[in-house]
Amino acid sequence: MPNLSKLETQVHKDLKSLNAQELKKRYLSKEGLLTKEFANIKNVPTNQKSKFGKRINKLKSLVDEKLNNSKTETKIKKSSRIDPTAPFDCNTQTDKRPHILDLQGSSHILMQEVNRFNEIFTSMGFDIVECRQVDDDYHMFESLNFPKGHPARDMFDTFWTEDGFVLPAHTSTMQNRILKSKNPPIRTVIPGRVYRNEATDAGHEHTLYQCEGVYVDKNVSVANMIATIKEFLEAYLESKFDIKIQPAYFPFTEPDCEFAISCPFCNKKGCSTCGYTGWIELMGCGMIHPNVLKSANIDPDKYSGFAWGFGVDRLTMIKNNIPEIRHLRAGSIKFLRDY
Ligand code: DAH
Repeated sequence: MPNLSKLETQVHKDLKSLNAQELKKRYLSKEGLLTKEFANIKNVPTNQKSKFGKRINKLKSLVDEKLNNSKTETKIKKSSRIDPTAPFDCNTQTDKRPHILDLQGSSHILMQEVNRFNEIFTSMGFDIVECRQVDDDYHMFESLNFPKGHPARDMFDTFWTEDGFVLPAHTSTMQNRILKSKNPPIRTVIPGRVYRNEATDAGHEHTLYQCEGVYVDKNVSVANMIATIKEFLEAYLESKFDIKIQPAYFPFTEPDCEFAISCPFCNKKGCSTCGYTGWIELMGCGMIHPNVLKSANIDPDKYSGFAWGFGVDRLTMIKNNIPEIRHLRAGSIKFLRDY
């Protein structure tokens, strides 16, 4: 498939710096960059056509959206009527009005990335289910093989309400519901907001997004797990890399693994993104523990499966070169405009 990443990066840059007329000329005119890519569809191999088409259509919608916004903006400027329900600056006849993004809002970078994950996983045959933001002891701990008093509960202990509910520390809190929701094969991805009881720094936050995956069927193996996660990461990061599976510990998997990739930015030479180690640890994963399958009435002698959980914030930072996790929730208009 022709490499669209450069064009995607350029469109995102130009959306911020070019005006409507310039955008239209560069992308949608007869000689426009997108017009050319549309004409190029016929040369793309059949099995890649649909992926390619989706990606250029997405770019076209972004450009169209900006052109439409610009029309609306001109209309607002020209209108002398006052709308008392609109944000105050819509009624102000001044050139110093805020950027159109402030008037109409835009999708937050984390949601843009979650949408991209959903697209990739859907194309791989997964369902998408959203995670709960408040849960109970059974789903957060018991059903995941953390009996009462288990020391590993401390790793995931967060905030409790007075009536005994917990703000989940991980999207694994949904596993039991997903496993009970239908008979295998089960292939589900669960993005959601989770909470951690920890001090914040450039790499840690008390509130973040995770994305869980659960796959159960007959004869599922560790090799299937590795291939699935690798396929997803290659599609998302749009690059090739080596992988490394390291031992870890989670009560709900056996074996438990940490999935690391060779740094796609420096090719193992060492850079600031990988902390000069050449490797980036991306997620916990493993084969679902038989007790977890049993707690959802799935017979572990008949079925097996794997699961993973990765930090959406972390992948977003890696992909977009964002050095500080706290930027993602600081609400700075400057940051939000940049992404
Ligand atoms: N829930 C783990 C965490 O937040 C990540 C994880 C590890 C999820 C292994 C899984 C798994 O589904 O199988 O650290």
